[in-house]
Amino acid sequence: MIIAILGRQPALGIAELEKVFSAQSVHIYSNQSATVETDYIDVQNLGGVPKAGIIINELPKSDWHKVSQKVVQHYSSKWSAFEGKITLGISAYGFDIDAREVQKTGIILKQKLKKSGVSLRLIPNPAPALNSAISHNNKIGLSPNKVELLIVRSNDGEVIIAESTGAQNITAYASRDQMRPKRDTFVGMLPPKLAQIMINLAVGNLHPSHSAIVSNVTLEPEFNKVPGALVDPERSSDVKNSSLISDQGQGRLRILDPFCGTGVILQEAVLMGYSVYGTDLSEKMIRYSRDNLNWLANSHRIRFDWFLYEGDSTNATWQQPIDAVVSEVYLGQPFSAPPSQEKLEEVVINCNHIITEFLKNLSPQIQPGTPVCLAVPAWRNTDGKFTHLPLISTIARLGYKPHEFTNISQNDLLYYRENQIVARELLVLTKC
Ligand SMILES: C[S@@+](CC[C@H](N)C(=O)[O-])C[C@H]1O[C@@H](n2cnc3c(N)ncnc32)[C@H](O)[C@@H]1O
Repeated sequence: MIIAILGRQPALGIAELEKVFSAQSVHIYSNQSATVETDYIDVQNLGGVPKAGIIINELPKSDWHKVSQKVVQHYSSKWSAFEGKITLGISAYGFDIDAREVQKTGIILKQKLKKSGVSLRLIPNPAPALNSAISHNNKIGLSPNKVELLIVRSNDGEVIIAESTGAQNITAYASRDQMRPKRDTFVGMLPPKLAQIMINLAVGNLHPSHSAIVSNVTLEPEFNKVPGALVDPERSSDVKNSSLISDQGQGRLRILDPFCGTGVILQEAVLMGYSVYGTDLSEKMIRYSRDNLNWLANSHRIRFDWFLYEGDSTNATWQQPIDAVVSEVYLGQPFSAPPSQEKLEEVVINCNHIITEFLKNLSPQIQPGTPVCLAVPAWRNTDGKFTHLPLISTIARLGYKPHEFTNISQNDLLYYRENQIVARELLVLTKC
């Protein structure tokens, strides 16, 4: 059994876990965590789960003092004959304590172990829980002598003690986001983690690598340039040509993003082992996606299938196969302050029209059962209430069935930062 620590918007992580591991195996444990009936979770492929750990002990209602005693007792005995140096981080979630109290537990353990001749390096706690960057940078959870304890208190006061199996690689996310050559603040900046969540919401349950540790992207240690894999950036005609590496894509699901923009979803899908197909109204965006995918292939030394084409998603004809559709669609204009009622109505009507036409056009082109995950706009007013796209309540008429989650509702599937007017609402659908 695993405990998953959830990200900034916990409902998105819960939804993602339900899709990847099945609703029956996911149980909300606290506001920040869920337990999952599985042996292993690869957090690098789950955008909504910054850390996960194997549960080693469950305690009835306990305060930090009791938990601390248990931890010291258990690990001073377990490590009393440990050979070599131990690095330890302790992260406490859901306790009403400050960082110093967490640190104190580590110091007591360190002193006890010292008496047994065992050396322990304690990672300082700037907060009760170490953030993912600290955990990742210290490589805790990744080997027997580098341990992070995840100590989580449920809403009812029960406690889980788990040993982390690693934290999301925050540096890699930042570099994928910031180092890619083409970015466009106007088109938007879909965070790579949200792209991963969307991909999992569509095809998580179909992806074989979630229960294994290895992704099926082909790693090419010697790879510099694959003939035919990379298009000439100066020749715009290449943009409209496939640059498939014919023998590499067999058996991989192909994900279509019909509003691909700069290609964040395509990029993350590739790293998760899918082959990708992007289309966009804008020729410039197709070039941007192409340059970013070329960068990904070179910087990560991987080869993969991709296909990019300029096209209006309200009337495009897509090439088969399409195994899943994952897209951050047209979101309308950005707002820095809530728009007037009149302006809001105009934008809602415009977005609703484009997205409805797109869904109508897509429907006959995909097989029944094809998963679709879309980020669509929802507008937040000054009271924090949302204006939703009208098409959502009548989506069945367009030929799509909304996925029913067990632990969360559709209203929880909103991604936004505090100061944002235009939120992204995630629609998780299946073609009827
Ligand atoms: C919110 S952005 C998507 C950004 C993208 N997720 C990324 O990684 O950069 C929406 C995209 O939809 C494109 N677009 C707008 N209307 C379109 C249409 N009718 N058909 C296809 N693409 C369209 C825009 O050019 C823009 O690139």
